[in-house]
Amino acid sequence: MKNLIIFLALAAATACASQKKQDENSLAVNPDLFDTIIDGKQVKLYTLKNDSGITIYLTNYGARIVGVQTPDRNGKYDDIALGYSTIADYLNDKIYTGCVVGRYANRIENASFVLDGEEYHLYRNDGKNTLHGGKKALDKRVWQAKQNDNSIAMTYLSPDGQEGYPGNLNISVTYTLNPDNSLKIVYEAETDKTTVINLSNHTYWNLKGEGDSTILDHYFQINADYYTPIDNEWIPTGEIAPVAGTPFDFTSGKMIGRDINDDNEQLENGLGYDHNWVLTKNTDDTLGYAAKLWEKSTGRYIKIFTTEPGFQFYSGNFLDGTITGRSGRPYLYRSALIFETQHFPDSPNHKNFPSTVLHPGEKYKQVSFYEFGVDKKP
Ligand code: BGC
Repeated sequence: MKNLIIFLALAAATACASQKKQDENSLAVNPDLFDTIIDGKQVKLYTLKNDSGITIYLTNYGARIVGVQTPDRNGKYDDIALGYSTIADYLNDKIYTGCVVGRYANRIENASFVLDGEEYHLYRNDGKNTLHGGKKALDKRVWQAKQNDNSIAMTYLSPDGQEGYPGNLNISVTYTLNPDNSLKIVYEAETDKTTVINLSNHTYWNLKGEGDSTILDHYFQINADYYTPIDNEWIPTGEIAPVAGTPFDFTSGKMIGRDINDDNEQLENGLGYDHNWVLTKNTDDTLGYAAKLWEKSTGRYIKIFTTEPGFQFYSGNFLDGTITGRSGRPYLYRSALIFETQHFPDSPNHKNFPSTVLHPGEKYKQVSFYEFGVDKKP
């Protein structure tokens, strides 16, 4: 009898382990479909994997996160980051999937700003404004990648005047997957002329798995008592408004869908949540707790820590089912969300916002941590 129990237990464990393997394998991204030359430079797929089986796929085209596989509370793996299975899909991508956004993440009003008395003109790719760095911005550039055990450093030199921004900007973004199941992203840059800079990552998340249904059932807590209201072109008005008593209050945590359809001017302007929160943290650049995203059916969570003062939360309001992801499922309205640790949008045109100016001789550095795990409760 005892032998039978041991046998059954072993058989169950083996079945479970092979199920896990199968899950992981069926999620694998094929590196051959990323191996190509773009703008005369080699593009590849890179993989980071730790002992708990968390796997992160990246490509040096746009320094993008291609996939993030994590286990749910039963050990079943899913890919929780939206993405595609071939580089050709990334060349057609218009929604900044997984990339580094910059040189200036989010919007700059009228696609222009004044720096040291000189006016700079950027590319208008969002009405009269500029969004996420311009026409051929960091998301469409081939970065140089170097893998070192559990980390990959991507570097790119953005030449003086590229997309209208002053200064030769030497950028590096390093992704490290730690044994404690956290992904650390370190952004660094130096310039040879005074410029503005705001770098962030643009991964779309669904903790049930990419291509699954809505994210309105995800719980979100954002460590912010204030946010920056916008006009109807998503440009900050300059006001720093309290979240208390508004649908923007995520301080105690709530389901994203709870208030998203409230009758509220700011939600109307944003077509949902598409705003910058002012994180409650030290004003210096030490790491602070920003947010926790959690999903009930899988138990998965991501805890986010950052050195940045701002946190853009975009609730996937422009996803409309016309894009099909890696799993063959369409990316439906509000079926993924983005959080961007960042400086505030349009800061070069708002003196009361933390400065995004970088001078020669200074080092730009932003650090963000995404901690992956499972919890019974938020
Ligand atoms: C912005 C959205 C924008 C989207 C484009 C997000 O970071 O907040 O307004 O439509 O990027 O993919």
